[in-house]
Formats: sequence, structure tokens, C-alpha cells
Amino acid sequence: AAAEKGGYDWFMLKEIAEQPQAVADTLRGRLSEAGEIILDEVRLTDQDLRDVDKIFIVSCGTSYHAGLVAKYAIEHWTRIPCEVELASEFRYRDPVLDRSTLVVVISQSGETMDTLMALRHAREQKARVLAICNTNGSTIPRESDAVLYTHGGPEIAVASTKAFLTQITACYLVGLHLAQVRGIKFADEVGAIVAQLQAMPDAIAKVLTTMEPVRELARSLVDVNTILFIGRHVGYPVALEGALKLKELAYIHAEGFAAGELKHGPIAVIDEGTPVVCVVPSSKGRSLLHDKVVSNIQEVRARGARTIVIAEEGDEAVRPYADHLVEVPAAPTLLAPLLTTVPLQVFACEVAAARGLDVDQPRNLAKSVTVE
Ligand code: G6P
Repeated sequence: AAAEKGGYDWFMLKEIAEQPQAVADTLRGRLSEAGEIILDEVRLTDQDLRDVDKIFIVSCGTSYHAGLVAKYAIEHWTRIPCEVELASEFRYRDPVLDRSTLVVVISQSGETMDTLMALRHAREQKARVLAICNTNGSTIPRESDAVLYTHGGPEIAVASTKAFLTQITACYLVGLHLAQVRGIKFADEVGAIVAQLQAMPDAIAKVLTTMEPVRELARSLVDVNTILFIGRHVGYPVALEGALKLKELAYIHAEGFAAGELKHGPIAVIDEGTPVVCVVPSSKGRSLLHDKVVSNIQEVRARGARTIVIAEEGDEAVRPYADHLVEVPAAPTLLAPLLTTVPLQVFACEVAAARGLDVDQPRNLAKSVTVE
């Protein structure tokens, strides 16, 4: 078993370490030298894709969080309205679907029953279904109109890590492809984004070399009762994912919030010493977004929070308000989740291990849930 884990204590650690490769493999062969996106597994015609006037992303758990991240990029690039929905809710509320609706189902295993039932419902309503899946030949891609495989390799640990990063990557390829097919005039931008995407595996590898302080911090927090996570824009789903990882692995109460929503309620739970993980967007470009998050960090700190700040290297503005600062390499706003998620995975894994828990097989959870 030790050999299977490649020298790591847990499959989860091995899979966290495999993320640069997994993302590189998901990109491989899908980007031309000219910066065009090649998605040959997508069995939908260009005309089908031009007819799309509405996108739903439907999934569960970590795959749902990948969808939430993808929405920001897909709407920005394609200008097609995109909604993200939990598979277990989707069909029960009678969503508006027709031939020009593209339903993107995301599933690592390809066997999640909630997602499968949502997919069947979408197809009955004549929507086109594109699966983003990590498991060749599984049920969800077999029943879909088209599939784009994430080439992440097998994921064994119950808590999903590399699947999340590869799902975001695959969704981004779909978004860029849709934009291209539909002739959105941002050809320069596509080329630049493609180059930036290709630089992500190295940046993820760099994050992985700087995780020792995160582990140390995690070990100092084994006895806390609650940890909050806040973020804005794509940092919001990253916060949700960070909280989910901690719940799943460490059995600690954790919640993710949109930072701007704090003042409408959640800030009331902050007490002296409450750890709050703050996911900070790039300080370049969208500085308004950055400024807003910095003031949210100040707000929670003024209420006694102990702040754990995940920010871009060289972000001086956050430094005075960070009790613990975790720096990640600079990346464009939309691509930052591929980096900022990594310390949160390492953190949850280490808290769980320090609490003496089974990281790979958390209680009450299954890798693939094949009941509704
Ligand atoms: C289970 C797993 C989660 C996973 C979710 C969706 O609940 O424990 O880690 O995110 O299913 O799985 P899928 O295979 O559809 O991505």
C-alpha cells in the first residue's frame, strides 16, 4: 500500500502533489500553436454550439464548486448566461430547458446518481448535455451528447483534490472553445489566456514547494471548533471548497462565505480568536475587487478574528491585516483558483492528520455516491 501511495502517507497527499501533472495532462493536445482550442471529443457541431443561448452547469460536492468557478470565466468569455446548480436540486424545480440549452455535467467518477438523474432530465427536455468527467467509459459520459475527459488519472482519496483543478481547467477550455466558435472578438485575449493556462502547472508546482508553514499552522489549529473561509468573485467558490475540505477531513465546523455578504449576517459569529481564512484576489488589474476584500479582512479582524490570508506574492496591502500570510504566485484573476485552492487542501489534510483521523477514508463519506 505504501508503494501505491508513492511514498506519501496518504493518497490525498500524493494526489495534491500530482496536480501540476494533472492540469498539464488536461491541457495537452487541446491547444494549438496558434492558440486555438481543439476539443475533438466534443461531439456537438459548431452549429450546435453557436445555437446555445443558455448554459447550466450541474454537479455535486467539489465538482459543484468547480462549476461555480467556471461560471465566472464562461460568462465573461462567451457572454452566454450560465447558471450553476446542485444536481440534487436541478430536476425537482422544473428548470427551463430546450434544444438551445447546453447542460454541462461535471463528475469525477461519472457515476454520481444525483448528477446522472439531472442529466437524464435535461436530455428528456431536449437540452444538449456535455459531460466533464475523469473516468473513461463511466455512465455519465456514456449517456451524454459529448464528453471532455479531464486527464487527471485515478483519484483514490475520498476528498477530491486534483479532480477539482482539472475540472476547472476543462471548463475553461470549453468556455474558450465556445467563445471561438461563436466568433467572440477577443482573439488576442484567447491567445494570452491560453499561454497563461499553460503556465499554471509550473505555478502550482511552485505553490507546493512552499507549504511547510501551512502545515505548521494547521497543526496549531487542531483544537478549534470552527473555521470560516471568505472570498469574492472566483475566490468565493474557493472559500466554499476550502470549508468543504475541512469539514470532510477534519470534522471541524467550517463555512465559506462571500466576503461581501459577511455584513448581512455571518460576521455576527466572529469572536475573539475565530480563525478566518481570506482568499484575496490579485492586487493587479481588478484593484477594486482587491480593495473590497482587504476591507473585509479589516472588518473581521476588528471583531477579533485570527486571519489566515491567501494572497498573491508581493501584495503589500494585506500584510498589516494578516496574522498568517500564505503567498502564491501572481496569476490572472480567473486562473487564480488553480493556485489559491492548493494551500486549503494541504491545510485540511494536515489538520485531519494531526487530529489522528483517516485522511483518505473520512467517516460517513463515499468516493462516489450512487444513490439519490
Ligand atoms: C462524493 C465525494 C465528493 C465528490 C462528489 C461528487 O460526495 O465524496 O468528493 O465531490 O461525490 O462526485 P463526482 O464523482 O460526481 O465528481
